Amino acid sequence: MESQYHTSVALTPSSKKWLERQKKDPFVKKAKQEGYRARSAYKLIEIQKKYRILNPKKFVLDLGAAPGGWSQVALEYCGSGRVTAIDLLQMQPLSGVSILTGDFEETLTSLNQEFSVILSDMAPSTCGISSVDHIRIMDILERVFELSHSYLAKGGHLVIKVFKGGTEHEFLKILKTHFEKVHHFKPESSRKESKEMYMVALNFKKTNKI
Ligand SMILES: C[S@@+](CC[C@H](N)C(=O)[O-])C[C@H]1O[C@@H](n2cnc3c(N)ncnc32)[C@H](O)[C@@H]1O
Repeated sequence: MESQYHTSVALTPSSKKWLERQKKDPFVKKAKQEGYRARSAYKLIEIQKKYRILNPKKFVLDLGAAPGGWSQVALEYCGSGRVTAIDLLQMQPLSGVSILTGDFEETLTSLNQEFSVILSDMAPSTCGISSVDHIRIMDILERVFELSHSYLAKGGHLVIKVFKGGTEHEFLKILKTHFEKVHHFKPESSRKESKEMYMVALNFKKTNKI
């Protein structure tokens, strides 16, 4: 059978490896069958099954939303008009979701709204040097956390992607002082070899002190 990834451009060994992995990945297949834009949708589904953060009363801010897998899941649980998605990249329209394009920090200044759930699956572009990649994602985490004081409602929940690498423990300590409960979670659908995991912080105390 001819490969769906056939291309006339010569692939680098790492691109070839990525394509091979995509072809074999059961979550890629499942996402195609079930109409999700990305296999990452299953990570949020797993988080939802375990922590029940989404329901029809919630307003959700999805940061780093493209191509839209998490927004699709948030839309399913919360309903039309309740999800705002932001990404640096253009995202295909998704009926019932407000989509904004740009850096999350700059884009948020145009919003005057509190959300009951903030999701961040944002990942900076990686360079492959794990210490540098770790610092880049920690910078994103800190910026998201700071913005939570303005955009996350009291009692709200924050789900944020981290890459294991050392200093996330400090961040975890800070989160623990601002949320009633903080969990570390590695979904089954997150690739075993990936250093990514999620912090699920529940019930924001909103004390105004960072
Ligand atoms: C892993 S993807 C998100 C996948 C998404 N959760 C889904 O299910 O389709 C990470 C996204 O973060 C976005 N991103 C990274 N830095 C960003 C920033 N500063 N502002 C907005 N989006 C950002 C990237 O453009 C990328 O689309």
